[in-house]
Amino acid sequence: MSPVAPTTARFISFEGIDGAGKSTHIEALGERLRQRGAELVHTREPGGTELAESLRELILHRGMDSLTEALLVFAGRRDHLQRVIEPALAAGKTVLCDRFTDASFAYQGGGRGMDLAVLETLEQWVQGTRQPDLTLWFDLDPAIAAQRRAAAREADRFEQQDLDFFTRVRAGYAARAARAPQRFARIDASLSVPEVAAQIHRLLESRGW
Ligand code: TYD
Repeated sequence: MSPVAPTTARFISFEGIDGAGKSTHIEALGERLRQRGAELVHTREPGGTELAESLRELILHRGMDSLTEALLVFAGRRDHLQRVIEPALAAGKTVLCDRFTDASFAYQGGGRGMDLAVLETLEQWVQGTRQPDLTLWFDLDPAIAAQRRAAAREADRFEQQDLDFFTRVRAGYAARAARAPQRFARIDASLSVPEVAAQIHRLLESRGW
Protein backbone atom coordinates (compact mmCIF):
# COMPACT_ATOMS: atom_id res chain seq x y z
CA MET A 1 0.00 0.00 0.00
CA SER A 2 1.71 3.16 -1.14
CA PRO A 3 0.21 6.37 0.31
CA VAL A 4 -1.17 8.88 -2.19
CA ALA A 5 0.16 12.40 -1.97
CA PRO A 6 -2.31 14.39 0.18
CA THR A 7 -2.43 17.12 -2.44
CA THR A 8 -3.72 14.84 -5.17
CA ALA A 9 -7.08 16.35 -6.11
CA ARG A 10 -9.49 13.81 -7.51
CA PHE A 11 -13.11 14.06 -8.46
CA ILE A 12 -14.96 10.72 -8.23
CA SER A 13 -18.66 10.33 -8.96
CA PHE A 14 -20.98 7.40 -8.23
CA GLU A 15 -23.87 6.52 -10.49
CA GLY A 16 -26.50 3.90 -11.11
CA ILE A 17 -30.25 3.36 -11.01
CA ASP A 18 -32.03 3.67 -7.65
CA GLY A 19 -31.45 0.52 -5.61
CA ALA A 20 -28.09 -0.38 -7.17
CA GLY A 21 -26.41 -0.04 -3.76
CA LYS A 22 -23.83 2.69 -4.34
CA SER A 23 -24.18 4.36 -0.91
CA THR A 24 -22.63 1.44 0.98
CA HIS A 25 -19.57 1.50 -1.23
CA ILE A 26 -19.01 5.25 -1.17
CA GLU A 27 -18.32 4.96 2.56
CA ALA A 28 -15.88 2.07 2.11
CA LEU A 29 -14.03 3.73 -0.72
CA GLY A 30 -13.76 6.95 1.28
CA GLU A 31 -12.23 5.04 4.16
CA ARG A 32 -9.66 3.47 1.88
CA LEU A 33 -8.64 6.80 0.36
CA ARG A 34 -8.50 8.45 3.79
CA GLN A 35 -6.14 5.75 5.04
CA ARG A 36 -3.90 6.58 2.12
CA GLY A 37 -3.71 10.23 3.06
CA ALA A 38 -6.43 11.81 0.94
CA GLU A 39 -8.45 14.66 2.40
CA LEU A 40 -12.06 13.97 1.49
CA VAL A 41 -15.14 15.95 0.69
CA HIS A 42 -18.19 13.72 0.57
CA THR A 43 -21.12 15.29 -1.20
CA ARG A 44 -24.16 14.51 -3.36
CA GLU A 45 -26.47 15.65 -6.12
CA PRO A 46 -29.07 16.92 -6.33
CA GLY A 47 -27.77 18.88 -3.36
CA GLY A 48 -24.42 19.56 -1.75
CA THR A 49 -25.07 23.20 -0.76
CA GLU A 50 -27.86 24.83 1.21
CA LEU A 51 -29.40 26.22 -1.95
CA ALA A 52 -29.04 22.98 -3.91
CA GLU A 53 -30.48 20.94 -1.02
CA SER A 54 -33.57 23.18 -1.15
CA LEU A 55 -33.84 22.50 -4.86
CA ARG A 56 -33.43 18.77 -4.16
CA GLU A 57 -36.60 18.83 -2.06
CA LEU A 58 -38.52 20.31 -4.97
CA ILE A 59 -36.97 17.98 -7.56
CA LEU A 60 -37.69 14.82 -5.57
CA HIS A 61 -41.16 15.71 -4.31
CA ARG A 62 -42.95 18.27 -6.53
CA GLY A 63 -44.55 17.57 -9.87
CA MET A 64 -42.97 19.42 -12.82
CA ASP A 65 -42.18 18.93 -16.48
CA SER A 66 -38.87 17.45 -17.51
CA LEU A 67 -37.27 20.69 -18.73
CA THR A 68 -38.07 22.40 -15.41
CA GLU A 69 -36.60 19.38 -13.65
CA ALA A 70 -33.41 19.56 -15.72
CA LEU A 71 -33.06 23.32 -15.17
CA LEU A 72 -33.37 22.90 -11.40
CA VAL A 73 -30.87 20.03 -11.37
CA PHE A 74 -28.35 22.09 -13.34
CA ALA A 75 -29.00 25.23 -11.25
CA GLY A 76 -28.17 23.25 -8.13
CA ARG A 77 -25.12 21.79 -9.86
CA ARG A 78 -23.82 25.27 -10.69
CA ASP A 79 -24.04 26.33 -7.04
CA HIS A 80 -22.50 23.05 -5.91
CA LEU A 81 -19.57 23.36 -8.32
CA GLN A 82 -18.85 26.94 -7.39
CA ARG A 83 -19.16 26.65 -3.64
CA VAL A 84 -17.99 23.11 -2.91
CA ILE A 85 -16.46 21.07 -5.73
CA GLU A 86 -14.13 23.57 -7.40
CA PRO A 87 -12.77 25.00 -4.10
CA ALA A 88 -12.16 21.48 -2.77
CA LEU A 89 -10.27 20.40 -5.88
CA ALA A 90 -8.28 23.64 -5.85
CA ALA A 91 -7.27 22.85 -2.26
CA GLY A 92 -6.02 19.39 -3.31
CA LYS A 93 -8.90 17.47 -1.79
CA THR A 94 -10.61 14.37 -3.16
CA VAL A 95 -14.30 14.89 -3.90
CA LEU A 96 -16.64 11.89 -3.64
CA CYS A 97 -19.91 12.87 -5.26
CA ASP A 98 -23.00 10.67 -5.02
CA ARG A 99 -24.37 11.32 -8.54
CA PHE A 100 -23.38 14.09 -10.95
CA THR A 101 -24.17 15.07 -14.55
CA ASP A 102 -24.34 11.51 -15.88
CA ALA A 103 -27.50 11.17 -13.79
CA SER A 104 -29.06 14.05 -15.74
CA PHE A 105 -28.33 12.26 -19.01
CA ALA A 106 -29.65 8.98 -17.60
CA TYR A 107 -32.78 10.25 -15.76
CA GLN A 108 -33.83 13.41 -17.62
CA GLY A 109 -32.38 12.19 -20.94
CA GLY A 110 -33.01 8.43 -20.85
CA GLY A 111 -35.82 8.21 -18.30
CA ARG A 112 -37.81 11.32 -19.24
CA GLY A 113 -36.83 11.32 -22.89
CA MET A 114 -35.40 14.85 -22.99
CA ASP A 115 -33.42 16.01 -26.01
CA LEU A 116 -29.78 15.22 -25.21
CA ALA A 117 -28.62 18.28 -27.14
CA VAL A 118 -30.39 20.50 -24.56
CA LEU A 119 -28.65 18.63 -21.75
CA GLU A 120 -25.31 18.99 -23.52
CA THR A 121 -25.85 22.74 -23.73
CA LEU A 122 -26.68 22.95 -20.02
CA GLU A 123 -23.65 20.81 -19.22
CA GLN A 124 -21.42 23.14 -21.19
CA TRP A 125 -22.90 26.29 -19.59
CA VAL A 126 -22.77 24.99 -16.05
CA GLN A 127 -19.50 23.12 -15.89
CA GLY A 128 -17.43 23.99 -18.98
CA THR A 129 -14.90 21.18 -19.33
CA ARG A 130 -15.10 20.00 -15.71
CA GLN A 131 -15.85 16.27 -15.48
CA PRO A 132 -15.17 13.67 -12.81
CA ASP A 133 -11.77 11.95 -13.08
CA LEU A 134 -13.50 8.65 -12.43
CA THR A 135 -17.14 7.58 -12.47
CA LEU A 136 -18.12 4.33 -10.79
CA TRP A 137 -21.27 3.13 -12.50
CA PHE A 138 -23.14 0.58 -10.38
CA ASP A 139 -24.95 -1.31 -13.08
CA LEU A 140 -27.88 -3.50 -12.15
CA ASP A 141 -30.90 -5.13 -13.78
CA PRO A 142 -33.87 -2.80 -13.06
CA ALA A 143 -36.02 -5.73 -11.85
CA ILE A 144 -33.47 -6.61 -9.16
CA ALA A 145 -33.09 -2.94 -8.21
CA ALA A 146 -36.89 -2.68 -7.80
CA GLN A 147 -36.86 -5.62 -5.38
CA ARG A 148 -34.08 -4.02 -3.35
CA ARG A 149 -35.90 -0.68 -3.25
CA ALA A 150 -39.19 -2.22 -2.17
CA ALA A 151 -37.54 -3.44 1.02
CA ALA A 152 -35.70 -0.22 1.73
CA ARG A 153 -37.75 3.00 1.99
CA GLU A 154 -40.60 5.25 0.93
CA ALA A 155 -40.31 6.10 -2.75
CA ASP A 156 -39.64 9.64 -4.10
CA ARG A 157 -40.77 10.87 -7.55
CA PHE A 158 -38.08 8.88 -9.33
CA GLU A 159 -38.30 5.74 -7.25
CA GLN A 160 -42.04 5.53 -8.01
CA GLN A 161 -41.33 5.07 -11.71
CA ASP A 162 -41.92 1.74 -13.43
CA LEU A 163 -39.51 -0.82 -14.84
CA ASP A 164 -39.58 0.74 -18.32
CA PHE A 165 -38.40 4.06 -16.90
CA PHE A 166 -35.43 2.42 -15.15
CA THR A 167 -34.64 0.37 -18.26
CA ARG A 168 -34.32 3.68 -20.14
CA VAL A 169 -32.25 5.21 -17.31
CA ARG A 170 -29.90 2.24 -17.46
CA ALA A 171 -29.60 2.62 -21.24
CA GLY A 172 -28.87 6.32 -20.65
CA TYR A 173 -25.96 5.41 -18.41
CA ALA A 174 -24.70 2.84 -20.92
CA ALA A 175 -24.72 5.47 -23.67
CA ARG A 176 -22.80 7.97 -21.50
CA ALA A 177 -20.29 5.27 -20.56
CA ALA A 178 -19.74 4.41 -24.21
CA ARG A 179 -18.93 8.07 -24.91
CA ALA A 180 -16.38 8.35 -22.10
CA PRO A 181 -14.86 4.88 -21.64
CA GLN A 182 -11.70 6.12 -19.90
CA ARG A 183 -13.68 7.95 -17.24
CA PHE A 184 -16.36 5.30 -16.62
CA ALA A 185 -15.82 2.07 -14.73
CA ARG A 186 -18.75 -0.33 -14.81
CA ILE A 187 -19.31 -2.19 -11.57
CA ASP A 188 -21.45 -5.35 -11.63
CA ALA A 189 -23.85 -4.40 -8.83
CA SER A 190 -25.71 -7.73 -8.94
CA LEU A 191 -22.94 -9.32 -6.87
CA SER A 192 -22.75 -9.46 -3.09
CA VAL A 193 -21.49 -6.48 -1.08
CA PRO A 194 -18.01 -8.04 -0.51
CA GLU A 195 -17.73 -8.96 -4.19
CA VAL A 196 -18.64 -5.45 -5.30
CA ALA A 197 -16.14 -4.04 -2.80
CA ALA A 198 -13.49 -6.36 -4.27
CA GLN A 199 -14.24 -5.08 -7.79
CA ILE A 200 -13.77 -1.51 -6.60
CA HIS A 201 -10.58 -2.48 -4.79
CA ARG A 202 -9.12 -4.04 -7.95
CA LEU A 203 -10.12 -1.03 -9.99
CA LEU A 204 -8.37 1.41 -7.66
CA GLU A 205 -5.29 -0.84 -7.46
CA SER A 206 -5.07 -0.80 -11.23
CA ARG A 207 -5.03 3.00 -11.13
CA GLY A 208 -2.49 3.11 -8.33
CA TRP A 209 -5.06 4.83 -6.05
P1 TYD B 1 -30.45 9.30 -4.77
O1 TYD B 1 -29.13 9.83 -5.12
O2 TYD B 1 -30.73 7.91 -5.16
O3 TYD B 1 -30.63 9.58 -3.24
P2 TYD B 1 -31.26 8.63 -2.15
O4 TYD B 1 -30.28 7.49 -2.08
O5 TYD B 1 -31.30 9.52 -0.94
O6 TYD B 1 -32.62 8.24 -2.66
O7 TYD B 1 -31.68 10.18 -5.30
C1 TYD B 1 -31.58 11.20 -6.14
C2 TYD B 1 -32.57 11.06 -7.27
O8 TYD B 1 -32.41 12.17 -8.13
C3 TYD B 1 -32.36 9.80 -8.10
O9 TYD B 1 -33.60 9.15 -8.27
C4 TYD B 1 -31.92 10.31 -9.43
C5 TYD B 1 -32.37 11.75 -9.47
N1 TYD B 1 -31.47 12.63 -10.25
C6 TYD B 1 -31.89 13.10 -11.48
O10 TYD B 1 -33.00 12.78 -11.93
N2 TYD B 1 -31.06 13.93 -12.20
C7 TYD B 1 -29.83 14.29 -11.74
O11 TYD B 1 -29.09 15.03 -12.43
C8 TYD B 1 -29.42 13.80 -10.46
C9 TYD B 1 -28.08 14.21 -9.92
C10 TYD B 1 -30.26 12.96 -9.76
